[in-house]
Amino acid sequence: LARTICIANQKGGVGKTTTAVNLAASLAAAERRVLIVDCDPQANATSGVGLTPSAVGSGVYQLLVDSAQPDQIIQSTSLSYLSILPATIDLIGVEVEFVTLADRHRRLRDRLQSLAGRFDFLLLDCPPSLGLLTLNALVAADSVLIPLQCEYFALEGLTQILGTIRRVQETFNPGLELEGILLTMFDSRNNLSHQVAEEVRRHFGGQVFQTSIPRNVRLSESPSFGQPVLLYDIRSKGSQSYLALAQELLSRFKEAS
Ligand SMILES: Nc1ncnc2c1ncn2[C@@H]1O[C@H](COP(=O)(O)OP(=O)(O)O)[C@@H](O)[C@H]1O
Ligand SMILES: [Mg+2]
Repeated sequence: LARTICIANQKGGVGKTTTAVNLAASLAAAERRVLIVDCDPQANATSGVGLTPSAVGSGVYQLLVDSAQPDQIIQSTSLSYLSILPATIDLIGVEVEFVTLADRHRRLRDRLQSLAGRFDFLLLDCPPSLGLLTLNALVAADSVLIPLQCEYFALEGLTQILGTIRRVQETFNPGLELEGILLTMFDSRNNLSHQVAEEVRRHFGGQVFQTSIPRNVRLSESPSFGQPVLLYDIRSKGSQSYLALAQELLSRFKEAS
């Protein structure tokens, strides 16, 4: 059965999209069937796998609003095991158009249900806010992966997203789990990076992925080529770290089954 993982943090620029694209590609390289669901109107995951958001026609907005069939919207990528439900700019409208709808928080969950048998993993890339789009993703998900940049105030931001997760558990999605906290943009030459990483590991222990993602220029270059980093430079530290993260994630399910 598919595992749906929401990649969320209300802060922008912490590595959500980079993680969605590159963890998805790494799982696909391990021959798991993966669907990225781009829930961010900025559509960075969509362009990150090589699509042009203004040219895709329909995406998550049409799925949520027009009840379009997922099959009409899902696009393939240059990796055969990786597909994407793209975002288009009109997705921004959801935040206001949905306010009065009774099922506004669980539309995504309802619409994705039919896909469960076709994929091993659904990775939901969230916008940098805790609005309705992120709420829909949290309600649709089995678990949340929180990318955390190793910088000042990282723990304060973490407290906020963990509070949101708790409220979603208490209301709409009691089964929601914490998949883990992922340390991103780790700079081994920077003392602050080490301090933040130590503090997060001290507070959250086993809830932090053992794999951390280093700051790596290849990771920031590959989106402009519309490629996950493993297609752009598989030997780079960035690529190797996301492959390791995929293995860490997969090993959990082997242990569990
Ligand atoms: N590990 C990393 N090393 C170097 N640059 C990174 C890394 N992770 C992300 N970036 C860059 O930082 C910026 C923000 O990352 P992004 O994944 O888009 O964050 P978010 O989706 O949380 O807003 C992007 O330009 C991205 O290419
Ligand atoms: Mg993003």
